[in-house]
Amino acid sequence: MSVREAYSNPEVIALYAARKKLWATEEILIRRYFRRGRTLDLGAGTGRTTHCLERAGYQPVALDLSNAMLAQAHFPRSVIGNAAQLPFIPGSFENALFSYNGLCHLTPHLQAMCIREVSRVLVPNGIFLFTIEQRKWYQQGILDWVIHAGSSQQFRCPFYRPWQKEILALLRQYGFRVLFVGPRDQLAPEKDYPDCSMIAALRESAQPPQS
Ligand SMILES: C[S@@+](CC[C@H](N)C(=O)[O-])C[C@H]1O[C@@H](n2cnc3c(N)ncnc32)[C@H](O)[C@@H]1O
Repeated sequence: MSVREAYSNPEVIALYAARKKLWATEEILIRRYFRRGRTLDLGAGTGRTTHCLERAGYQPVALDLSNAMLAQAHFPRSVIGNAAQLPFIPGSFENALFSYNGLCHLTPHLQAMCIREVSRVLVPNGIFLFTIEQRKWYQQGILDWVIHAGSSQQFRCPFYRPWQKEILALLRQYGFRVLFVGPRDQLAPEKDYPDCSMIAALRESAQPPQS
């Protein structure tokens, strides 16, 4: 099953549509690092983060692979697209967010392409905030099934746990400086997803050559 199919399942859409608030950790990191201006909300889904960003004045554009998820967001600036191949010109955004481990739905190759693309569409000194479920030494990297928070049921959906050090290396390769990396519950007591790492990175103004 593809990621798009997985996120077209009405049960999955209903689970995500029920959530309306930012995580406390997202709020802390957004306030700490985001700049005023346009924000690309990658994997925006049913618009949990999009509507919060809009209310806080960060001018979001919601992008998602799944038409069905985006339709539920009811947000005017929505784009159906792939986070690994962004339909925007360089320097289009001050901030980018890929929340709730959305990056883990991309294959390792596409994760690298996504980080490169985010670097391209951010302005110099723009901020990229995202989360991953990093792989532990005893875990396999590729999962066919996930349990979406709010359900006890397993749903078929590709999920790739990256090594955190590889993601940090990719960020450096594509011109980012890492500002924050830490487990979700390091900043605020959120115990429901302790394996989740929050990462904030700044796109340096001097860019390394990209291959
Ligand atoms: C875990 S859900 C999170 C949804 C939303 N950000 C939230 O926090 O409620 C992951 C979202 O990422 C989207 N997604 C996965 N791979 C994607 C890709 N390559 N490009 C764009 N969106 C993608 C899925 O369709 C899904 O809506």
